[in-house]
Amino acid sequence: MASCDPYPAEVADTAALLASERTGAITARSSYVTGGILPSQMAPFHDNSATKEGGVMTRVAPGDVRSWRLGARTRKGVLVLHIVSAGAWIGIDVVMAVVVFTALLTDDDGLKALCFRALELFAVWPLFTTGLVCLASGVVLGLGTKWGLIRYWWVAVKLALNIVLTALVLVALRPGVVEAAEQGQRFMAGESVSLAVGDLIFPPIVSPTALLIAFVLAVFKPWGRIRKLQRGRGP
Ligand code: HEM
Repeated sequence: MASCDPYPAEVADTAALLASERTGAITARSSYVTGGILPSQMAPFHDNSATKEGGVMTRVAPGDVRSWRLGARTRKGVLVLHIVSAGAWIGIDVVMAVVVFTALLTDDDGLKALCFRALELFAVWPLFTTGLVCLASGVVLGLGTKWGLIRYWWVAVKLALNIVLTALVLVALRPGVVEAAEQGQRFMAGESVSLAVGDLIFPPIVSPTALLIAFVLAVFKPWGRIRKLQRGRGP
């Protein structure tokens, strides 16, 4: 598995660029970061925000729409939000699995009904919210760093997984959870109802598995870049 983490090189390049700005010398490595553009030429956009001091965005080359970047401190802040939301998401999935499998395996109908009612508390909106926060912070990280959104396979696959999983919460999970909670409530009110788990068994299997894949992709960053279609190259 080929992994790719260009940050150390990029940070070194940025440091070299800043040092060269102070001394007036332009090094080969610093001009690599700017695509050969001298710091003096970047004046309207260059705000040093990729330094340790932070800042919201920095734009390292004029006229290049892909060239703006999150400042170092902002990137770390968004990354914290991203990792925390992903962790909360998988945590809620684990709790959902415990509750659903308890309902599936217990012979106690009272406990089953309680599990069904408890599901409604956390299995829809908290799950949907963490999915959205993870998606939004991931998109900001993708656009604000050199990873992009569909430049690297590991990011593109995570994007697809995130969108599908978040949509499934509303489309597939919510109806089942609402129905189960109603059954639980009616059982507790003394009515005779079916307390079958049914299709509710799938979300706690599918979602954590997909999230685990996303975590592995995030950490190992496999498969490298997505190749652009080469146009006009005949035999
Ligand atoms: C599906 C759920 C997701 C999970 C579980 C997840 C998890 C993670 C984790 C654990 C990291 C930290 C990796 C490291 O620092 O080595 C990370 C970084 C990252 N994620 Fe996600 N992510 C998810 C969705 C997304 C989405 C939808 C995008 C964007 C389309 C995205 C883009 C990124 C980027 C660009 C980084 C690297 C940030 C940086 O180092 O500057 N992620 N993700």
